[in-house]
Amino acid sequence: MATADKEVETTGLTGWIDRRFPLTSTWKKHVSEYYAPKNFNFWYFFGSLALLVLVNQIVTGIFLTMNYKPDATLAFASVEYIMREVPWGWLIRYMHSTGASMFFVVVYLHMFRGLMYGSYRKPRELVWIFGCAIFLCLMAEAFFGYLLPWGQMSFWGAQVIVNLFSAIPFIGPDLSLWIRGDYVVSDVTLNRFFAFHVIAIPLVLIGLVVAHLVALHEVGSNNPDGVEIKAKKDANGIPLDGIPFHPYYSVHDFMGVCVFLLIFAAIIFFAPEMGGYFLEANNFVPANPLQTPPEIAPVWYFTAFYAMLRATTDPFKIVLMIVIALLGLLALLKARGKWKLGLPVLAVLVLVFMALTESKFWGVVVMGTAVVSLFFLPWLDRSPVKSIRYRPLFHKVFYAIFVLAFLMLGFLGTRPPSPAATLIAQICALIYFAFFLGMPFWTPRGRFKKPPERVHYKPH
Ligand code: HEM
Repeated sequence: MATADKEVETTGLTGWIDRRFPLTSTWKKHVSEYYAPKNFNFWYFFGSLALLVLVNQIVTGIFLTMNYKPDATLAFASVEYIMREVPWGWLIRYMHSTGASMFFVVVYLHMFRGLMYGSYRKPRELVWIFGCAIFLCLMAEAFFGYLLPWGQMSFWGAQVIVNLFSAIPFIGPDLSLWIRGDYVVSDVTLNRFFAFHVIAIPLVLIGLVVAHLVALHEVGSNNPDGVEIKAKKDANGIPLDGIPFHPYYSVHDFMGVCVFLLIFAAIIFFAPEMGGYFLEANNFVPANPLQTPPEIAPVWYFTAFYAMLRATTDPFKIVLMIVIALLGLLALLKARGKWKLGLPVLAVLVLVFMALTESKFWGVVVMGTAVVSLFFLPWLDRSPVKSIRYRPLFHKVFYAIFVLAFLMLGFLGTRPPSPAATLIAQICALIYFAFFLGMPFWTPRGRFKKPPERVHYKPH
């Protein structure tokens, strides 16, 4: 009997709902009959954990909003009121602030898994692209949220970031004025950031997460071997190496959730400020537009990108110009068809534009490009195998250098600038971009191991 007929035959309350709404068929399609590869490992916990943190942020956010006042004269005190007077308010606030950092921990690990196992490759390009859009939204959400406590870091952080837009030629000053709604970050800015933080961005974020999962369930999950399980099916059309998500992975993920919650609770109860990394000391001081704090550094999850911004000094702009000139020359020598002339002309135009504009603007471009590069990964990687397991040793070394450079940038972004730190940040930024730009050239090269016909799996 066809599955569809079976669904209509359900009885009782479920049957009543099924005749009006596709409850059973949706449950089957996405949960009990969604066949996931049986060799998922540790790295596959982070998708469900990201979902958990998303729910945590929404629920705690709703409760915070009940007592928070989006008003420049009241905001700081309302957060203190939540912490001291509102029953369990301190817990709700710490769950939300810790959740913000843990969201990034989980999402960075989730992205790293995608990178290792080539989960962005055909047919999962859209899963990846929705993921990158989620990452962008998450950054915007965290940025808007950080202004709300109206502490010194909230105020000056927003001031610095919004001022970056003023570096854009021609429209910059008007654009930053438009974003702030005032000549400095003020009550008007707080109100609009509040609107974006509590409703606009969360709506987009939820929509994107749904699209991310729908796209994933359309093509099916990748796995640590990077082997397509749909290529080998049994007589009923079920992948030979697939197991139903429920109960196998629902139980597996539940275990991950328990371990995660232990860590999450330990942070909330014992180190909610995490030595100033999750909540900065300066943000316990009310915003004062007349006094700039000695050190303005963003929260840890932005520091890698912030370090790239700071590293873009005048000499670094010249290095970038040399790199672009060399790429233009390479295109002239190697490219074919319309690219042969098009790319060098583009390089010359960019060079002229760079010569005419200040390095601050190029810092913003570098920072933006660092995030946007991620979107192109599915087309930059030309390796014949997906998973890192079957790639040559030098690929693994490149991945390791890339990750170390990113971590180094993250670390440098938390430190005050110094000539040595700037130089290291510049080298790391070049490594970061060389990794992406060089991908079409190095990923097809080397001796690859032959991936297995079916996934590797050791029962345990
Ligand atoms: C709110 C944030 C996010 C949520 C809730 C989320 C959720 C999920 C879930 C539940 C899965 C399936 C389980 C798993 O494979 O771990 C998944 C898979 C995936 N996600 Fe995300 N995700 C988020 C952000 C991202 C980001 C930022 C990226 C990349 C830029 C990304 C890329 C992927 C990829 C490529 C897969 C398929 C992995 C595979 O099949 O090997 N996700 N996501």
